[in-house]
Amino acid sequence: MKKTVLSGIQPSGVIHIGNYLGAISQWALYQNKYRNIFCVVDLHAITTPQDPKSLREKTYEVAAIYLAAGLDPKKSIIFVQSHVPAHSELAWIITTISKMGELSRMTQFKDKTTKLRRESIPTGLFIYPTLMAADILLYQANLVPVGEDQKQHVELARDLSQRFNQRFGKTFIVPEPLIRKSGARIMGLDNPEQKMSKSATREMNYIALTDKPATIRKKIIKAVTDSGTAVKFDPKRKGLHNLLTIYKLFSGQSETQIEQHFRGQGYGALKKDLAELIIKKLAPIQKKIAYYMQNKHLLDRILANGAKRADKIAQATLKEVKQKLGLVL
Ligand code: TYM
Repeated sequence: MKKTVLSGIQPSGVIHIGNYLGAISQWALYQNKYRNIFCVVDLHAITTPQDPKSLREKTYEVAAIYLAAGLDPKKSIIFVQSHVPAHSELAWIITTISKMGELSRMTQFKDKTTKLRRESIPTGLFIYPTLMAADILLYQANLVPVGEDQKQHVELARDLSQRFNQRFGKTFIVPEPLIRKSGARIMGLDNPEQKMSKSATREMNYIALTDKPATIRKKIIKAVTDSGTAVKFDPKRKGLHNLLTIYKLFSGQSETQIEQHFRGQGYGALKKDLAELIIKKLAPIQKKIAYYMQNKHLLDRILANGAKRADKIAQATLKEVKQKLGLVL
């Protein structure tokens, strides 16, 4: 039996090249090897306030991005999380075996709530990881390809699956995160100390998958680097290292090849070439995103078919879970 791969992206904020390089671009590579399930996690997006009109539009956009980045509905199940009610059902069950302590330790939760008073922290943000665990466990996923920032959530899903298995007998596969060596943490262009972020308030932080060439040039030229000159892969020179990593992943060249290419040239040359490389690589993806966004009926059809297939797998797991818990079926 083929191993199952599952992952998802929230239809909120800006989908950027970090999401693409760290996650989506990898998913397409696994398509022939594994059973693939990719969802647009709209129920996760609503853990922070969303404008209904843009949530709807973003949900379509993330689906369009999946297809534009090479996910093939014949090889992968592509669907919207809220179209398969079993996610919410299993999330509740998983929540009942989770603990306040482990959820409080999630760094993403801590980051998102540092500025909030305890009384006003949304409960949905707190139990967010139990919904993510449900996404993974419902499909008996073996592998979860994500960026570095989601590793802790996948590890929690592992703990919860093991806990359930211990209490009620072997039910869930214990999933593993699948994280690429280079590109799992693309840093912000305006601040290479922090990851490129969907919810960044400054546009200079990210390159959106839908950014126009002029915007991409402007953002790369202004990207924060240091005062050095030699173009070398040095993790200590964080801004430069980030730009070189993006260059490496989009070009497919080795670090030595890239260093040789830029020998005797400064950061200016790297930035100029990098901007053109990103523009060239994003152009066909942008064209396809625009095509699907103008033909939403095609997305509706693909998503409805995906939900039907996902629901079948999810229902089988949910039935077993309910039986093991002692719920009357
Ligand atoms: P989300 O929507 O924030 O991000 C989607 C994917 O992009 C990766 N990513 C990055 N990779 C490299 N560099 C970055 N700067 C960067 N920023 C984001 C994320 O790690 C992720 O893989 N909770 C998840 C969505 C989710 C999920 C799931 C994922 C819900 N259910 C089940 C896997 C399996 C999230 O918010 O990702």
